[in-house]
Amino acid sequence: MSADSKAVYSPPNKVVSISHCSSMEQYRRMYEKSIQDPEGFWGEIAKSFHFEQETTGKFCDYNFDPSKGRIFIKWLEGAKTNICYNCLDRHIEAGKGDQIAFYWEGNDPADRRQLTYADILRDVCKMANVLKGYGVAKGHRVAIYMPMIPELVVAMLAVARIGAVHSIVFGGYSSESLAERMIDAQASILITSDAVWRGTKLVHLKDIADGALEICKQKDLDVKKSIVVKHLCRVTAPQSAANGVANGNPSKKTHFDDKVGWKEGRDVWWEDVMKDAKSDCHAVWMDAEDPLFMLYTSGSTGKPKGVLHTVGGYMLYSATTFKYSFDYHPGDIYFCTADIGWITGHSYVTYGPLLNGATSVLFEGVPTYPHTGRFWEIVEMCKVNKFYTAPTAIRALMKFGDEPVKKYNLSSLSVLGSVGEPINPEAWMWYYRVVGNSDVSIVDTFWQTETGGHVITPLPGATPAKPGSACYPFFGVDVALLDEEGKEISGEGEGYLVFRRPWPGIMRTVYGNHERFETTYFKKFPGYYCTGDGARRDADGYIWVTGRIDDMLNVSGHLLSTAQVESALVEHEAVAEAAAVARPHHVKGECLYCFVYLAEGFEFNPKLAAELKGKVREKIGPFATPDYLQATSVGLPKTRSGKIMRRILRKVAVGDKEFGDISTLADPSIVDVLFQSRILDGKA
Ligand code: PRX
Repeated sequence: MSADSKAVYSPPNKVVSISHCSSMEQYRRMYEKSIQDPEGFWGEIAKSFHFEQETTGKFCDYNFDPSKGRIFIKWLEGAKTNICYNCLDRHIEAGKGDQIAFYWEGNDPADRRQLTYADILRDVCKMANVLKGYGVAKGHRVAIYMPMIPELVVAMLAVARIGAVHSIVFGGYSSESLAERMIDAQASILITSDAVWRGTKLVHLKDIADGALEICKQKDLDVKKSIVVKHLCRVTAPQSAANGVANGNPSKKTHFDDKVGWKEGRDVWWEDVMKDAKSDCHAVWMDAEDPLFMLYTSGSTGKPKGVLHTVGGYMLYSATTFKYSFDYHPGDIYFCTADIGWITGHSYVTYGPLLNGATSVLFEGVPTYPHTGRFWEIVEMCKVNKFYTAPTAIRALMKFGDEPVKKYNLSSLSVLGSVGEPINPEAWMWYYRVVGNSDVSIVDTFWQTETGGHVITPLPGATPAKPGSACYPFFGVDVALLDEEGKEISGEGEGYLVFRRPWPGIMRTVYGNHERFETTYFKKFPGYYCTGDGARRDADGYIWVTGRIDDMLNVSGHLLSTAQVESALVEHEAVAEAAAVARPHHVKGECLYCFVYLAEGFEFNPKLAAELKGKVREKIGPFATPDYLQATSVGLPKTRSGKIMRRILRKVAVGDKEFGDISTLADPSIVDVLFQSRILDGKA
């Protein structure tokens, strides 16, 4: 089936008739107000939240131009609030304590739990008291490395309740990556879990965390406590594992019943410390501009950036985008498949839904276990009506055809969201037609870790959607496209995607490195926040995000920098130089194609290839493993000043001989040699 990219899909009546924003006219009116009168617009929204103290200073103040001084962004100056209080206590005081906050669906369909708002508040208070007992106070950083279990939500809210700062690291990262992030954040406490099943794969999180703590120790970071959730013994192991076959490898016995490594004094079981903890704990009133969390994202230098978000603005923005982008109404059952370790999970599994008092699904597993209809089974079982996933998941499931979807009753669905990378029109159409039965609104939400919430997105009851376009800016977001000289492009055109002013949810700084924040986002085009993405505006004003225009690539919706991968590869003694580029991939969107120039005396063979892939897994994590490794004996194409021309390597990777101008290369003959030995298909 091919998609008609010119087609426009209007929202279905069932969505329009109840929508918070039910026409383009209403959208334009609200958008205009948000731009002309931000204080009036956001001030009205702020009234639904509990502020212990109202704004006393400027409602919004900022500088986006480095030539005029330091870059800064402030919202709601002087206001005091607590996001955990607004997520939990506020609803419970309104009589919603017994409402389900999360349906937890385990990796195995037999493992299910339900948690009410009151359940979560009780556990949050207990954990908050535990943390206080360990000396955690306002402003301290707490690292969290956990699977998708309710305790993860409890942990982050407990940290926020006492005014500390959470730094969640995705459970797919390696020891080295976790350690690097903990050291940068100077985190004094780690919250983790023994292990987790992801499909049939057993991931020993504690082993990985222990490795990280060892590295922290060598780098003089004293992590006082590691709080460990005992998770494995309470879930169902896959059939294959029960027979002693783990990870498809019959020779490798699982040790899911074994004791984990333990360091007395440092390691404590979550269950033990929670037992006697008191179940009430005051929420600390925070300044709106106090830090709430940091979340590391790839940076073009290879060193991850601790993107810092603050309490007040993030709260208003994650809540408002959740309400309008998914057109949330009480009674909805919402399911976001993202891991809380990424920003999507922060804003649209935890904060956005809880701030709206929503009922959500929290899913531990993977889309294809124990069968390829797992998502749809959950949708049917929980009567999900709002569903949010990534194009890479959609493409992976499309491969199995319509049948695994059609087996389930998905008539509850009304809004389907997409996030993380551009969605190709074919995937969009399949999502719409097969999953949504052509009777849903699709919202292709464009945003970043840095933006805190959706910045360009259709609204389900208002925007006629075009497959592949993120459509129009969200309220308060002032979009512009710039040419190479920094001149604004009006009307139709393509250029750098930038924003002219802050919205409440934008990041405030890079943790511990404000200069890097200024350089990365504001230096190239003074006066604008630069996304690093390119975009096209069509004749109807729709925005089409075309992808990164810097040295980043997006593998299965995970942003990676080429520098990060290259520095992992060159750590191997056999590699003198490495260059990583993106190659289109039918499921992942993009995958890694790496060129390695071997040091004297080394020969490329399957063993070395496996070692190099292992190096990337060890330094970053399994999701960053290169799909293609091409060894070169003639070197890499470089300019005379020694800069690797990745533009040419990208062409080699896709087999495109139109190299353009190669006259600036020090040795143009290299290009032909690389092209001849490029990897055609299959994996290296
Ligand atoms: O390139 C854009 C792409 O993902 C990048 C942000 O990645 P990250 O900070 O990891 O956050 C991902 C989840 C919000 C962006 O710079 N991206 C994200 N959503 C879209 C997208 N590209 C096109 N369309 C989208 N809907």
